Amino acid sequence: MNILLIGSGGREHALAWKIAASPLVERLYCAPGNAGIARECELVAIDPGDHAAVIGFCRSHKVDLVVVGPEGPMGAGLVDDLAVAGIKAFGARRAAAQLETSKGFTKDLCREYGIPTASYERFSAAAPAKAYVRSQGAPIVVKADGLAAGKGVVVAQTLAEAESAIDMMFGGGLGEAGAEVVIEEFLAGEEASFFALCDGETAIPLVSAQDHKRAFDGDQGPNTGGMGAYSPVPAMTAAVERRAMDDFVLPTVAAMKAKGMPFTGVLYLGLMITATGPKLIEYNVRFGDPECQVLMLRLTSDLVPALLASADGQLRNFDLRWSSDTALTVVMAANGYPGRYDKGSAIAGLDAAAQVEGVEIFHAGTATQDGRIVATGGRVLNICALGKNVAEAQARAYAAVDRIQWPDGFCRRDIGWRAVERARAP
Ligand code: AMP
Ligand code: GLY
Repeated sequence: MNILLIGSGGREHALAWKIAASPLVERLYCAPGNAGIARECELVAIDPGDHAAVIGFCRSHKVDLVVVGPEGPMGAGLVDDLAVAGIKAFGARRAAAQLETSKGFTKDLCREYGIPTASYERFSAAAPAKAYVRSQGAPIVVKADGLAAGKGVVVAQTLAEAESAIDMMFGGGLGEAGAEVVIEEFLAGEEASFFALCDGETAIPLVSAQDHKRAFDGDQGPNTGGMGAYSPVPAMTAAVERRAMDDFVLPTVAAMKAKGMPFTGVLYLGLMITATGPKLIEYNVRFGDPECQVLMLRLTSDLVPALLASADGQLRNFDLRWSSDTALTVVMAANGYPGRYDKGSAIAGLDAAAQVEGVEIFHAGTATQDGRIVATGGRVLNICALGKNVAEAQARAYAAVDRIQWPDGFCRRDIGWRAVERARAP
């Protein structure tokens, strides 16, 4: 069969790598892709926002399945438009993508269906929001309803901080995304992510991963899209994973079906593991980036039948196999990220780095220029490794990082620290 993958990040390189390994795949295309994805398949210069162009390409190239990586095209209705054109797609439809695109929608769904999450209220004006904050006290969390590129959440330690976040959001500081604000209870605990594949009717578990959102070592510095991840997460015990399915994924799939917006694709649970059990921080409607990279390294089954089963409503009784090894990825980003950064700097040593045992390198913001790999984005490379435990995976990933010459980039040196500390504890 022929597959078109949509996206250009490290997540899509990992998906391309895994899809290309499937014996079911004849031709794999990616739009728009990056320099790493170009090694796995043919890049196509179409804009995923131009649905007519995507449909035209699928028809002319006999594409049997479109795999949508990022949430943007799902929120824009690409999966819906492909369905109307009779083209099968893996991912969420526009209405179902609200689980990610509207925090208010998800919070209301949790309340209606008893899905554990922080208590909250929704506001469309500053005065009642501030009155609520004063009645609840700090710490408290202020969130813009819409997508705000990671800047929409303020974990306020004091009432003054909370009130100034409310003023910033209603003052238009985040544009449309801040027209409505959700204020919620502060949750203390360890954050972890869990993933499930859904087909509109039912769901099967994937595995857990832990992201590292802050830019610098020791979880310091600004929030980013994710500076590294590993899987499995020791805090996500078998019991917590069962609760993730029983208390979150399955009720959500049933609720979305009941609402007439069946959820298909990957459901990403951002969980806080609190003293009283896991609580939902957020849903996303896609694989995490960089979490997808570590999931694909651990997946021993063919991914393609699972993507098809999700698109076809055939996940019941479907089974996936995972390596019990630990996978870990270190993100290399351009100096300055997540703020301003330069583009165009050259990267060397990738081939030597890829020789380290257990290592796989996935590209994010890269392009090929005059035969050299150059950086074209904020997050640029994912240096991934499998190991028999987290310490080995970490050592291998950093051994590979140390073979890369890129003075204009940086990475965290402590990816996996929670699991490493836990493994060392007596
Ligand atoms: P979100 O965009 O909803 O994932 O939030 C971004 C980050 O803010 C999360 O990864 C958490 O670290 C933090 N956060 C969000 N909601 C809460 C909460 N209710 N309590 C504590 N931390 C939170
Ligand atoms: N790494 C966080 C995310 O994909 O949302």
